Amino acid sequence: MSILLTGVAGFIGMHTARRLLDRGEQVIGVDVINAYYDPALKHARLATLEGADGFTFEKLDFSDRDAMLDLVQRHPDIDRVVHLGAQAGVRYSIEQPVDYLTSNLTGQLVIMETCRAMMGRSGGCRSFVYASSSSVYGANRQMPFSLQQRTDHPVSFYGATKKAGEVMAHSYAHLYRIPSTGLRFFTVYGPWGRPDMSPYIFTSRIINGEAIQVFNNGEMSRDFTYIDDIVTGVVAALDTPPVEDNGYEDNEAGAPHRLYNLGNNRSVPLMDYIRVIEQACGRQAVIDFRPLQPGDVLETYADIDASTRDLGYAPTTTIEIGIPRFVAWYRGYHGV
Ligand SMILES: NC(=O)c1ccc[n+]([C@@H]2O[C@H](COP(=O)([O-])OP(=O)(O)OC[C@H]3O[C@@H](n4cnc5c(N)ncnc54)[C@H](O)[C@@H]3O)[C@@H](O)[C@H]2O)c1
Repeated sequence: MSILLTGVAGFIGMHTARRLLDRGEQVIGVDVINAYYDPALKHARLATLEGADGFTFEKLDFSDRDAMLDLVQRHPDIDRVVHLGAQAGVRYSIEQPVDYLTSNLTGQLVIMETCRAMMGRSGGCRSFVYASSSSVYGANRQMPFSLQQRTDHPVSFYGATKKAGEVMAHSYAHLYRIPSTGLRFFTVYGPWGRPDMSPYIFTSRIINGEAIQVFNNGEMSRDFTYIDDIVTGVVAALDTPPVEDNGYEDNEAGAPHRLYNLGNNRSVPLMDYIRVIEQACGRQAVIDFRPLQPGDVLETYADIDASTRDLGYAPTTTIEIGIPRFVAWYRGYHGV
């Protein structure tokens, strides 16, 4: 049997595909390789997967319903779906909201339609896992962010589309009994990471002796999650599809849909995190303090009790371990 994995040329998608291939799964990876950031990095990630036993790549836009339905017809052995493709990024969603509409709303619907098409055949869709985000918590001040908190007041359009994805998935889980799991990722970093995110931007600028912009006088903190811990959580969720009527307290419909936080369960002050990057780079940062950016939140911090209880999720990587690994990859990749 096979797994359909979207966003396979992306940061989390590539690592997840690698882990699944390493345990002998067949993975059909989909990505449109858009130019939100340098496509050369996406091609380089893909190159690490190509040639692996069990890997097939399809260059497709997953918001194209006909193309996706055709894909699952051509691959009748697909029985699980990991949907990690999206238009990511909080700040860009203020400049280009329409890109988020296509990939995160139409795209989410088309992937759910794809799962629905699979339900009509033998074996069905055994597990549908999709990426949500800590951004759904908006400007919540109560820490840590727990699943019981309200998430209907996002402060970025990106967060709004991720919240919409969750409620859309619930409706399909209810209507078509698709076992679905939404994972709220908290600032994921590590080798092959995204060039629009601060670990990459700060490392690049510090190594080049350029100033880094630090918002809100550095008075922010983030729950940074190392990629290997995230992948372990994604695979555990894939292997643990929710069952119906499982007593999930917010789920009165009894639909087989669950949400989990995947964070590191600690909130690191931004200035401490910058010190760790400086140490790993062997160079001091020049800091340009700026006001808080629209769409930004002051703090993120994941309550992972439910993820630990149900998925056995137990992140182990601190930034003191993870950041030097990222910087080593960065130096190797860029030859600096
Ligand atoms: N990295 C993080 O810190 C983080 C945090 C919270 C949530 N997430 C979510 O996790 C998922 C993976 O994030 P990532 O960091 O790997 O992002 P990424 O941008 O590296 O990967 C996403 C991939 O999806 C592809 N894609 C986008 N729209 C597509 C479409 N319509 N058709 C086909 N492919 C398309 C892109 O080309 C890209 O390769 C996303 O859903 C993101 O919103 C990430």
